[in-house]
Amino acid sequence: MEERKVLYSAVQPTNNLTIGNYIGAITNWVGLQNNYDCYFAIANMHAITVRQVPAELRQRTLSLLALYIACGVDPEKCVLYLQSHVPAHAELCWVLNTFTYVGEMERMTQFKDKSARHAENINMGLMDYPVLMTADILLYQSDIVPVGLDQRQHVEIARDIAQRFNNAYSPTFKVPEALYLKVGAKIGDLLDPTKKMSKSAENANGSVFLSDDRDAIIRKFKRAVTDSEACVKYDPENKPGVSNLLSIYSAFSGKSVAEAEKEFAGAGYGDFKLAVGETVADRLAPIQAEQAKLLADKAYLDGVLRSGAERAARTANKTLAKVYKKIGFYS
Ligand code: TRP
Repeated sequence: MEERKVLYSAVQPTNNLTIGNYIGAITNWVGLQNNYDCYFAIANMHAITVRQVPAELRQRTLSLLALYIACGVDPEKCVLYLQSHVPAHAELCWVLNTFTYVGEMERMTQFKDKSARHAENINMGLMDYPVLMTADILLYQSDIVPVGLDQRQHVEIARDIAQRFNNAYSPTFKVPEALYLKVGAKIGDLLDPTKKMSKSAENANGSVFLSDDRDAIIRKFKRAVTDSEACVKYDPENKPGVSNLLSIYSAFSGKSVAEAEKEFAGAGYGDFKLAVGETVADRLAPIQAEQAKLLADKAYLDGVLRSGAERAARTANKTLAKVYKKIGFYS
């Protein structure tokens, strides 16, 4: 049997996830788990590079885990685990720090953005974030890393660091490739559709969260910006609002954009927006119900994390042992 490629991704348990994350990341993971050896982590160590409320961080960790499982990520098929449960991440990060230049980290776009937004807390962890992410990826000898475009530089640096280490010693790490997911990756804000729908947008009415109830979802879609043309047509340049709603409808209904245009030909924007809202709410309802059921079964979730951490550590420790040997740590 041909060996399957290793796929690695992670998400931070920080803000609420939006329908953009659902379409852009979670549903893709569900599709990928059948074709790759998948490792999916909840990146709580990355999360603390920005100050968190401890009780919320704990709660969001479980809630994210339950959400993934509710969406169809199968803990039997893939290794689903919490980053802080596998000490090898911090250990490899330390070694890789000595193969990373301060100047490189200072030039990272996300570091510069976050430093500007959190000027009162530009901590070493924030600067080291890409090296920890590199450790995440390299520990599992990952072939493929599906991420959003905002993570492009981070995967590039992971490749650079892997090659640097391999050249300094001998082949140790697989050099990973990024996989930029296209499907639904560009869901826009409902109030400002040329901007990406974000988990941390200033106005929460522009983002639809996976935790929103039916009423909130429909209310947000009713308020979505459109235009004065009263014509449901896909034209992102001139009709960004309507086009964004069509993309969302298409992603959640499984119909093509062309089919959707036909379906709403002649409909008013009010009816169109209501239909999009109802479609999204209908699709999320069973997921939310399943998530709530899982969250009520903490023993099950703890079991998933325990087994995930054991399986992750087995792979990670092998890589770490190789690294320690090559750099001359006496064992
Ligand atoms: N930095 C990623 C994000 O915020 C999350 C992440 C942490 C990650 N470690 C990773 C993604 C390793 C891919 C691979 O989206």
